[in-house]
Amino acid sequence: MAIERTFSMIKPDATARNLTGAITNVLEKAGLRVVASKRVWMTEKQAEGFYAVHRARPFFGELVSTMTAGPTVIQVLEGENAIAKNREVMGATDPAKAAEGTIRKLFAKSIGENSVHGSDAPETARQEIAYWFAETEIVG
Ligand code: CMP
Repeated sequence: MAIERTFSMIKPDATARNLTGAITNVLEKAGLRVVASKRVWMTEKQAEGFYAVHRARPFFGELVSTMTAGPTVIQVLEGENAIAKNREVMGATDPAKAAEGTIRKLFAKSIGENSVHGSDAPETARQEIAYWFAETEIVG
């Protein structure tokens, strides 16, 4: 299995509840390694750019306002099969549908305030990492 990198974000609903360490612990226990991390309070422009793929969705305005409501912790995770593994450990987008033991089952409040984001494919992982991190900030 290939060593991959993926992008992960701990969202404002989780940083507000002081869950950065608890969520990172779940990621690390799943075998993912944090190779870059920073805390960012994103602007509306940054949120709109990051989530541009969802621009036409009815929840886009709500998405931008929840993502700019407080600080996020953005990370690059590295490990075997990291993209799929991160998605598995995050759980379903809607916490009501998330499996036991997943981050969203454990911590998320709702589909909008679902505590974490993770890249869904290799190309999105590359784009999302490059959106927030310079190569020099990633230390494996
Ligand atoms: P995320 O993985 O960050 O990708 C897009 C986000 O949009 C998603 O998690 C949810 O937080 C949010 N989202 C998806 N569907 C809805 C919805 N129906 N209502 C509100 N927010 C949503």
